[in-house]
Amino acid sequence: MDVIQAIRDRRSINFFEPGRDISAQTMRDLLELANLAPSSMNLQPWRVIVVNDPERKKALRQCAFDQPKVEEASAVLIMIADPRAVEENIDQVLESWVRLGYIKPEAVDMYRGLAGKLYGTGDSLTRNFFAVKNTSLYAMNVMIAAKGLGLETHPMDGFDEGAVKKAFSIPGDKIVPMLLAIGYLKSGFTPLPRAYRRNFEDFVTMNSYR
Ligand SMILES: Cc1cc2nc3c(=O)[nH]c(=O)nc-3n(C[C@H](O)[C@H](O)[C@H](O)COP(=O)(O)O)c2cc1C
Repeated sequence: MDVIQAIRDRRSINFFEPGRDISAQTMRDLLELANLAPSSMNLQPWRVIVVNDPERKKALRQCAFDQPKVEEASAVLIMIADPRAVEENIDQVLESWVRLGYIKPEAVDMYRGLAGKLYGTGDSLTRNFFAVKNTSLYAMNVMIAAKGLGLETHPMDGFDEGAVKKAFSIPGDKIVPMLLAIGYLKSGFTPLPRAYRRNFEDFVTMNSYR
């Protein structure tokens, strides 16, 4: 499927075919493909927990206001934004840039300092925004790539983040921007027509906000 068609056809699917698995290879292909998403300084501050065990999906459903799709989907991806990714990944990013000729070795310290300046420190709002915005781009890539692989998705922020972190042993300093249900469209089910989208003029201006 071409990318324009995938964007046109993607919908948030409420009805998944229960009991239909996604193979480990397909899930791996999907999450690796989505990993080509762009990120701030290529720091890739995302992690994913694939929840496909029936009992664990049941537990996750309890954290997600009992939304049936959490259990009916083949899997639910817990998308995790990691504010610590700057410190954890910067060495590998800079090493690859030097090795591939993007930057000279003497520029490494300057780039390290730049990351600290641009993306804040510790648990600052700037740092948390950095983690969440990049993880959201990754999640969008998953949704489009899934469509290309014949899969359907549904992003969700209807869940208790504290409960999800507790149930899935996610450290307190991580952020869970969304859950992503993934699977196959339930047979015989046709999604309702796509709902309201704003007009171009409602959200685009030229050269200035007003
Ligand atoms: C970050 C995010 C969180 C969402 N959370 C939920 C949710 O918890 N439950 C739900 O039924 N839909 C949820 N949605 C789906 C939206 O309602 C849906 O994307 C929107 O109505 C547009 O429909 P479409 O995706 O089919 O075009 C969420 C979407 C996004 C992007």
